[in-house]
Amino acid sequence: MSIDSATFRSVLGRFVSGVTIVTARDEAGVDHGMTASAFCSVSLDPPLVLVSIAHDATLHPVLLEQEEMAVSILTASQEAIARRFAEKLDNRFDGVGFTRGVTGAPLIDGALAVVEGRVIHRHPGGDHTIFVAEVLAASATMDEPLLYYRGGYAHLAR
Ligand SMILES: Cc1cc2nc3c(=O)[nH]c(=O)nc-3n(C[C@H](O)[C@H](O)[C@H](O)COP(=O)(O)O)c2cc1C
Repeated sequence: MSIDSATFRSVLGRFVSGVTIVTARDEAGVDHGMTASAFCSVSLDPPLVLVSIAHDATLHPVLLEQEEMAVSILTASQEAIARRFAEKLDNRFDGVGFTRGVTGAPLIDGALAVVEGRVIHRHPGGDHTIFVAEVLAASATMDEPLLYYRGGYAHLAR
């Protein structure tokens, strides 16, 4: 017995999340990045996080090959960046400011927080792969987060 995808989306959409841009640089030095909400902490000691990436995402083969990656957690004012990195565009980084940290992967300017890591496990997850990364560096600001809830962007009301 299983459930249909509409029910799955409707139910799981009730679980509010933040919005991130997951980034990595491929072997040729080309930057890749995509919007992802399937991001969470896994372990404190050692510090581990995970991202779940669809098999058909262009970032997927990059993270199968590369260990270094980064996650930029977006602020409430970065919805346009979230939309941009979920669209089919040739160069999503055009006009988007970023720096590079210890991994070399792009860190989006003005992000609420950034996490840099090294992929140490890759687990099958249906039509996604779960990439578990050891955190090498991380930093945060005091801004407000961008949220994703029931298929739309949302802000904290407080
Ligand atoms: C708010 C939001 C969250 C998303 N979260 C994920 C995610 O966690 N994993 C994933 O594989 N795709 C996720 N997506 C879809 C990808 O961002 C989208 O399919 C993207 O175009 C894939 O990159 P590509 O076009 O380079 O293949 C999300 C999209 C949005 C708008």
